[in-house]
Order: sequence, then C-alpha cells, then structure tokens
Amino acid sequence: MAPTRSLSRPVRGLSTRPVCARVARALSTTSTTSPNPVSSTDTASRSSGQKTPKPLTKEQREFLASALRVNQAGELAATLIYTAQTPPLVRRHPHLRPLMKHMYDQEAAHLSTFDALLHRHRVRPTALYPLWSVLATGLGWSTAVMGRAAAMACTEAVETEIGSHYNGQIRTVLEMMAEWEAQGYEVGGEIRDLVSTLRRIRDEELEHLDHAVEHDAKKAEPHWLLTGVIRAGCRGAIWVSERV
Ligand SMILES: [Fe+2]
Ligand SMILES: [Fe+2]
Repeated sequence: MAPTRSLSRPVRGLSTRPVCARVARALSTTSTTSPNPVSSTDTASRSSGQKTPKPLTKEQREFLASALRVNQAGELAATLIYTAQTPPLVRRHPHLRPLMKHMYDQEAAHLSTFDALLHRHRVRPTALYPLWSVLATGLGWSTAVMGRAAAMACTEAVETEIGSHYNGQIRTVLEMMAEWEAQGYEVGGEIRDLVSTLRRIRDEELEHLDHAVEHDAKKAEPHWLLTGVIRAGCRGAIWVSERV
C-alpha cells in the first residue's frame, strides 16, 4: 500500500513571543559581518557588487526561536513514544526490535540536534516539557498495549503531522531566503544549514511514516478515530509549544 503523505499545510504564522537577542546575532544571515540595520552603507556595498547581510526582523527572530523550541519538544516526545512502545511491542513481536531501535536512534539524534541548537542560540525550551513527557509516554505505552497495528497507527499519525510541520517551517525559511536574495542581501551559511537540517529530519520522519504503513498501521481499529485523535493532539501540542 502506498504510504500516506498529507503535507499540504499552509505556511505557519509567525509567533509573537519574545526572544533572546542572541538569536538575532546567531541566526543572522551571514557569517562574515555583524548584522546592522539597512543603511546607506548597505546600499553602497550592494551597488558595488559586495553583498551584505540582512538583519532579521523581530518577527523572523521570533519565528526561528519558536521553531527551534517546538521542534525540540516534538523530538523529545518522539523519543519517549518509542521508548514506551518498544517493550510491550517487542515482547509480542520480536521481529520489530530492529525497526523500533532504528526509529528510536533517529529520534534521539534529532533531539540532540535541537538540544544543541537551543543551547547555541539561547532559546528556552517549552515550559510544558514535563506535561509533554507524561503524555508522550502514555501515548506510546497505550498504543503498544493495544497491539502492533495501533502502535504503527500512532507513528503514522504523529509522523504525518510532524512531516507537515517541518514542511511548513522549511517553506517559511525558504521564503525568507528568497526575499533576502531578491533584495540583494547575502544569505549566510547558518540559515542554509538550518534548512538542510530541517529537510534531512523531515525526510527521516517520513521514512518512519512509510515504515508504519508498511507494518499495517491502516489495520488499526478504528483507524480513523485513533489517528484522528492523535493527529489533533499533535497539532494542539505544536500550537502550544510554539507559544509557551
Ligand atoms: Fe524526529
Ligand atoms: Fe519520527
């Protein structure tokens, strides 16, 4: 059966939460000079062919900080879901051990990537870290106890939302980059690295989605209810974590 990939969400809106000023510096659009407001000097250097950095707007800084915060929360939840699912699932289906380990290992790597980015850019984690931890563990354990198909339906639902979520972020950052380039500004390596990191992680999440469908996620009963509830929960958690 072909895997489900409903990845057509609109570009995410920009958060209005305050953010540490270091994000502006660290996530600036260049690595060579400090970001200064647009000035006559910028205009002069652009006209002479030497590109200058575009300072991030307040909205862009807030968007990037919010994106890193919600991504880290989501990856924490993913590691906890697989941690809770694996023992009951593997006990009854030992052949799934390598798959569960593979997906867990990728989630753990995603989490350490965003842990490092949060630390580097001084972005605070979500205040609801403990709540997400409890809910993710409960979701993983309960779906695994329901059986293999339910556990896989959980992965299908979560990865559908997460893949869509990462796609929205990628679109927003690419739009920022395109705007800077159209205005003649330099797009620095750090922001390009962020896009390639998001793309790589998005692709790995979609690989998990494919694995889940290949392992009978669609046979969960009732599939529509289970995936509907989990997807709604994911969207709610993303919305809250972007803000709190
Ligand atoms: Fe992940
Ligand atoms: Fe994943």
